[in-house]
Amino acid sequence: MVDIFDGFYAGKRVLVTGHTGFKGSWLSIWLHEMGAEVIGVGLDPYSEKDNYVLSGIGKRIKADLRADIRDGEKMKAIFDEFRPEIVFHLAAQPLVRLSYDFPVETYQTNVMGTVNVMEAIRATDSVRVGVMITTDKCYDNKEQLRGYKEDDPFGGYDPYSSSKGACEIAIQSWRRSFFNPSEFGKKHHVSLSSVRAGNVIGGGDWAKDRIIPDCIRALEADRPVEIRSPRSVRPWEHVLEPLGGYLLLAQKMWEHPTEYCEGWNFGPEQDSVLTVWDVASAIVKSYGRGELRDVSDPDALHEAQLLMLDIGKVKSRLGWRPRLKAADSVDLTVDWYKRYKTCDVMSLCLEEIENYLRK
Ligand SMILES: NC(=O)c1ccc[n+]([C@@H]2O[C@H](COP(=O)([O-])OP(=O)(O)OC[C@H]3O[C@@H](n4cnc5c(N)ncnc54)[C@H](O)[C@@H]3O)[C@@H](O)[C@H]2O)c1
Repeated sequence: MVDIFDGFYAGKRVLVTGHTGFKGSWLSIWLHEMGAEVIGVGLDPYSEKDNYVLSGIGKRIKADLRADIRDGEKMKAIFDEFRPEIVFHLAAQPLVRLSYDFPVETYQTNVMGTVNVMEAIRATDSVRVGVMITTDKCYDNKEQLRGYKEDDPFGGYDPYSSSKGACEIAIQSWRRSFFNPSEFGKKHHVSLSSVRAGNVIGGGDWAKDRIIPDCIRALEADRPVEIRSPRSVRPWEHVLEPLGGYLLLAQKMWEHPTEYCEGWNFGPEQDSVLTVWDVASAIVKSYGRGELRDVSDPDALHEAQLLMLDIGKVKSRLGWRPRLKAADSVDLTVDWYKRYKTCDVMSLCLEEIENYLRK
């Protein structure tokens, strides 16, 4: 496989929380393919059709662990045993609507889970880089027409978004208090950053109330796709885009520990900022059949209408930019869902990564 990181990850011990989930499974596959020793920490996968299950990545990585990030002592014990050098923290309760039903659990997992992972990093002298994954929803959403910049205020209306805003504040605090760049090499040797992606799409995500899984479930069952929030605008991007950004950032943090330990937006270009209806239409077109039905409900739970990320900083300081146009991201996503039943899913993922890297 093309290695755009020049062998950097070969032999590195990399701990990924949330490796059984959608983004974590893709990250683990990519890291494993580059020769990293991947230690995965997560709960059981949600379904037999998840990318983690179908790809079989759990059987290939160095350690495939089931543990709850709400258990701080357990996190420390895992870190102590496996002594990771790089940590990608993705584990979370990531769904807005579910957070209205389970606000306490969402906060426990997202906020205290993140604190527990940072405390495990602090207690383990092998860790040099920590990349904490939050979300574009961590910003105080003013429904504004410009993209959020990294130094915009954190906030969040619903429990999920606000829990991620709270994570950002906790990460900032741990960086100031325990991993301060001015004390690097004297009091600690950790570089800690946070990263915010847009609405991530790609193969193997079957989460409830997310537009792509909703579309595919309906298309597979020959039902119309019901669209709850057709006019909501989101920054859509294929899963490999932010993951490539996280991997690049971690490498830069390793090489220059005090220069990149801050917050970063890994969103798409402006042409991929589209309504839910536009994206669902593109999915149906790429799939080759199906129809959409507007089922907007004026009494629905609050979800942000307009959300965009400003990616000027990652472009100028990291040299990162999205490789895919919106239509390419949709086609790559649909490719997985059209083929997962009939082919070897690990080969499918590796082929998609290879094609992506050649763009
Ligand atoms: N998918 C998106 O559109 C998107 C966009 C922006 C940010 N994010 C963030 O990216 C990360 C990954 O999202 P995803 O879409 O892959 O979610 P996902 O639901 O597919 O995966 C979540 C992972 O977290 C693990 N997990 C959940 N609760 C846990 C707990 N208490 N202890 C241990 N592990 C636990 C699950 O087992 C799973 O492996 C999350 O932090 C999410 O907030 C996702």
